Amino acid sequence: MNILVTGGTGYIGSHTCVELINAGHDVIVFDNLSNSKETCLDRIFEITGKRPKFYCADMRDTDSMRPVFQENNIEAVIHFAGLKAVGESVAKPWEYYYNNVVGSLNLLSVMKEFNVKKLVFSSSATVYGDPAIIPITEECPLGTTTNPYGETKKMLERIFSDFQKANPDWYIMLLRYFNPIGAHESGLIGEEPNGIPNNLMPYIMQVVVGKLPYLRVFGNDYKTHDGTGVRDYIHVVDLAKGHVAVMKKFEDAPGVYIYNLGTGIGYSVLDIVKAFEKANDIEIPYQIVERRPGDIDACYSDPSKAERELGWEAQYDLEKMCKDSYNFAKKAL
Ligand code: NAD
Ligand code: UFG
Repeated sequence: MNILVTGGTGYIGSHTCVELINAGHDVIVFDNLSNSKETCLDRIFEITGKRPKFYCADMRDTDSMRPVFQENNIEAVIHFAGLKAVGESVAKPWEYYYNNVVGSLNLLSVMKEFNVKKLVFSSSATVYGDPAIIPITEECPLGTTTNPYGETKKMLERIFSDFQKANPDWYIMLLRYFNPIGAHESGLIGEEPNGIPNNLMPYIMQVVVGKLPYLRVFGNDYKTHDGTGVRDYIHVVDLAKGHVAVMKKFEDAPGVYIYNLGTGIGYSVLDIVKAFEKANDIEIPYQIVERRPGDIDACYSDPSKAERELGWEAQYDLEKMCKDSYNFAKKAL
């Protein structure tokens, strides 16, 4: 298929481009490069032998997206583009709602104009809030989000679903990601956050390359096996492959399809620290500090629906996630 990947030079987008190309799809990328670099396309070329066609376009500017659709026979859109820093979204709500929500509405209008009716959207486990069911199935009721970023995901899920109801010949795939970590095993692409990272693995990577002195473990009094927060970490390459698997759903009836993409296994912060130390034979200095506001005890998926309906299951274990993260950190950070 000819697939447009918005946000395709970003962390998850770039890994997905690689897997789509490996599976024989033709990939077109647009990104405004606000949180990524065009050189990522050279890395994709190094890995796959193919360089996706690239447009520097911005979802906030409908006119900038039209040539992408005019010049390519796009059959489906995988929509990664968006701002994603939870803390920043609290400080800059307008920017987050405008970029993520208005931007996605613009994308939808251009898709409509060019009669492209297949959309895959990057949602997040954050829509479950403090989950009512653990492991979390797709039937788990949506929860209360604690920040504007999470709210944009919830709003967009609703907007896309309502849109599909009114346009029943559309396909809307809502993929709820758990916690992607790791990098392509070549070490050529990975996550390079701007400034001091918010997320656990990017923070650990800065510590192990000597850019930050120690990891702050946010609280050890959660209701978990060792008191630190439990999450469902998934290798970004597995997550990327989930997007390839979902392409086959476009052969079924149009509708709204929702899938959790996780491993189904919950690891605590200290489990991650220990696994990283063991996998890479390196010590991670850390200190237990106060809880981070908005954090929950535990969040992990029941990924069996994706396995049943897409034939997709995460393959890589925590050791591989830690090795590939470190391999990338040593090369890139
Ligand atoms: P990322 O920041 O690496 O990639 C997002 C890309 O979108 C960037 O390259 C950025 O330049 C681009 N972008 C932002 N605004 C744009 C705009 N207005 N027009 C065009 N391009 C724009 O982030 P990522 O980790 O790869 O995340 C991809 C998607 O997955 C995001 O929607 C994110 O919210 C979602 N998600 C990420 C995680 C995670 O932990 N990384 C978890 C759940 C969901
Ligand atoms: N943590 C630390 N120290 C740090 C960073 C994180 O102890 O420096 C802890 C957190 O308290 C939490 C765990 O590590 O217990 C994971 O935290 P992350 O910030 O890596 O991830 P979150 O689960 O909080 O959130 C992430 C994304 C959200 C997304 C969510 C679910 O930031 O956007 O996963 O997919 F919605």
